[in-house]
Amino acid sequence: MQAIKIHGGVPLEGTIPISGSKNAALPLMTLSLLTNDRFILSNVPELADINTMKCLLEQHGASIHRLDNGNSYELKVEGLLSSEAPYDLVRKMRASVLVLGPLLAKYGQAKVSLPGGCAIGTRPIDFHLKALESLGAEINLKSGYVEAKVPKHMGRLKGGHIVFPSITVGGTENAMMAASLANGKTIIENAAREPEILDLANCLNLMGAKISGAGSSIITIEGVEGLNGINYKVLPDRIETGTYAIAAAITRGCLKLTNTDPNLLEAVIIALEASGVNIEVGEDFINIDTSKKIRGVDIQTEPYPGFPTDMQAQWMALMATADGAAMLTETIFENRFMHVPELVRFGANINVHGKSAIIRGSEDLSGAPVMATDLRASVSLVLLGLATHGTTVINRVYHLDRGYEKLEKKLESCGASIERINIK
Ligand code: EPZ
Repeated sequence: MQAIKIHGGVPLEGTIPISGSKNAALPLMTLSLLTNDRFILSNVPELADINTMKCLLEQHGASIHRLDNGNSYELKVEGLLSSEAPYDLVRKMRASVLVLGPLLAKYGQAKVSLPGGCAIGTRPIDFHLKALESLGAEINLKSGYVEAKVPKHMGRLKGGHIVFPSITVGGTENAMMAASLANGKTIIENAAREPEILDLANCLNLMGAKISGAGSSIITIEGVEGLNGINYKVLPDRIETGTYAIAAAITRGCLKLTNTDPNLLEAVIIALEASGVNIEVGEDFINIDTSKKIRGVDIQTEPYPGFPTDMQAQWMALMATADGAAMLTETIFENRFMHVPELVRFGANINVHGKSAIIRGSEDLSGAPVMATDLRASVSLVLLGLATHGTTVINRVYHLDRGYEKLEKKLESCGASIERINIK
């Protein structure tokens, strides 16, 4: 097993280049199932989840090669080897369910393991399945698998009217991909508005799809006969950007974040400015300078463009060092406070009441041995370890490797004392 060891209390200073977005790259990779042409994706982050998606697509019959500059892949699916997404892959990464829409749209069948829950919640996929049924798919649940198929008499999926009961990012992505090759027009209401949805629609349209309204809550898709391969660049990771912005603030340092897009994380920037951080934004960079005291700022997680749930744990870590109190309410997932008992081990003063947590900032926190529980919780422990004097050892760092490319290297280059160690 590996752990990360940090000697904290050092203000970070320097420049961090932001990687491509994990949550954009994963659905974009599944687009390779919708065409038999070569499909090239660039700015793909080097992450455990990307490798899991690569294994899954290869299992379906994709040939995937990394191109020489490291962050570009060529994907090509000349024919379907298997329409099954097995439990051992899906349980490792829920985003595996995103092959459902493309497999149904292109090959008329799919057998995808139910993902099961994870640390942050039960995470059902009922909205995905209802949406695909609206497009004519027949869905059966058997022995932990979704068995989906397009009835023979239909030939391919048909356009339909989908109204999501509540906002779902993955559900919107599956529906949009499935509808792109359906026969007729599809309207998706109460669609997710995340930038990754817009990025996916942009890529699909360049492949020949006819999608309008992506980024708003109503998306219209005119199904087409087929899609071509293209060369597409993944957009910057807004959650990685927000995480390193908080790394600057929590260590009272100053960082320049490059290769990013400030427009992708306006709610986070507004909250940081309200807490007293000086922020300067440019077209593809953000300068964070923290010279004043950090004040407590209340936040509530919301679907985009609200404050992202994937930034909740990081915000809590910052508020644990603030001057004053802050209330933090999680409205998206039912169990996304697993980081609280670990942050309390640093001496943080946090009380959870249902979906809300009250954080009373303190200056006498100190490093501690802690345990990562999920991806974003694990990075909140890194952040507080960077901010507090003493030594922090974070166990189960495989959670971190799912979503943060070269984390230690990026932080070390800005003065952090951070290393990966092997433990028994
Ligand atoms: C995506 O997950 C992201 N993952 C998550 O990021 C992110 O936290 C989440 O969107 C919300 O923004 C990827 O993009 C790969 P949802 P997704 O469907 O699509 C409920 C990270 O750290 N729901 O928008 O799975 C669900 O339980 C990850 O990078 C249903 O009830 O999220 C949740 O409470 C964590 N039925 C809420 O909706 C469904 O069929 C939002 O889920 C689908 C979802």
